[in-house]
Amino acid sequence: MTIDIRPLNPIIGAEIWDADLANLTDQQFGEIHQASVAHGVIFFRDQPRLSPEQQIAFAGRFGPVHVHPASRGVAAEYPGLMKIRTTRETDVAAGNRWHSDVSCDEAPPSITTLQLHEIPPSGGDTLFSSMNAAYDALSERMKTLLDGLTAHHSGEDAYRRLFRFDKPGEASWPEADHPLVREHPDSHRPALYVNREFTERINDLPRLEARALFGFLLDHAEQVAFQCRFVWSENAIAVWDNRCVQHHAVWDYWPHERRGHRVTAQGEIPIPWSGDPGAQRSENLRLSA
Ligand code: SIN
Repeated sequence: MTIDIRPLNPIIGAEIWDADLANLTDQQFGEIHQASVAHGVIFFRDQPRLSPEQQIAFAGRFGPVHVHPASRGVAAEYPGLMKIRTTRETDVAAGNRWHSDVSCDEAPPSITTLQLHEIPPSGGDTLFSSMNAAYDALSERMKTLLDGLTAHHSGEDAYRRLFRFDKPGEASWPEADHPLVREHPDSHRPALYVNREFTERINDLPRLEARALFGFLLDHAEQVAFQCRFVWSENAIAVWDNRCVQHHAVWDYWPHERRGHRVTAQGEIPIPWSGDPGAQRSENLRLSA
């Protein structure tokens, strides 16, 4: 191991030291990739400010760069780079609700990289929640009920609100149905895939049953026992896996400002969990609902 990995807790999150993200060897990238699979979200504090080209190159090692379908923060010269910017004038801050990035896309981003260049004097933390742990903590009865169900995800409500698309026909939104429990292509672990920002409804059940189950799963996914919290420092970089982690960027720092760059890697179309009995399971079944 050439990098220093310091877990934040046994469920989710690790800080990584001794890796220069602008000059990674293949071995170091392999270790970073493994750490992201093992911990769901990893953090780097001792980094220089990456140029757009350097951040795009780093994110591109996880897969082709994903282009955001609606953001007004996409940089014209770098279509894969989205500017994160909350100022005194902001009235709706991006990310201030639990979500998995762009889960409304047919093939949503796998990995997100975010570097913050300007942070408020206090506040502005980001919370991350493990959807592997959330799934593992469900009862066997509930897991049986979820098996084979899908949910509908839509960008309309979120992107109209965030990016102020008020005029009819001004923009279009991705919509997609995804499995409620998806399998991670590397860990092969099951993850609950439902979030407050983009998931509109659960399919395949009578309306009232779907509504009650949806509310329960959203509350369940947001329990603090599945979470870690990152207190940013200038130029820190967070790298999270949207296939098994949700996040919430807390907007508690107005009138201060927060700025950075986000680049995501294209993921695969989510596949339902195969129920492979050999799949790795969390031992934290005590984290019950
Ligand atoms: C996001 O939701 O991608 C932004 C997260 C953050 O600003 O911390």
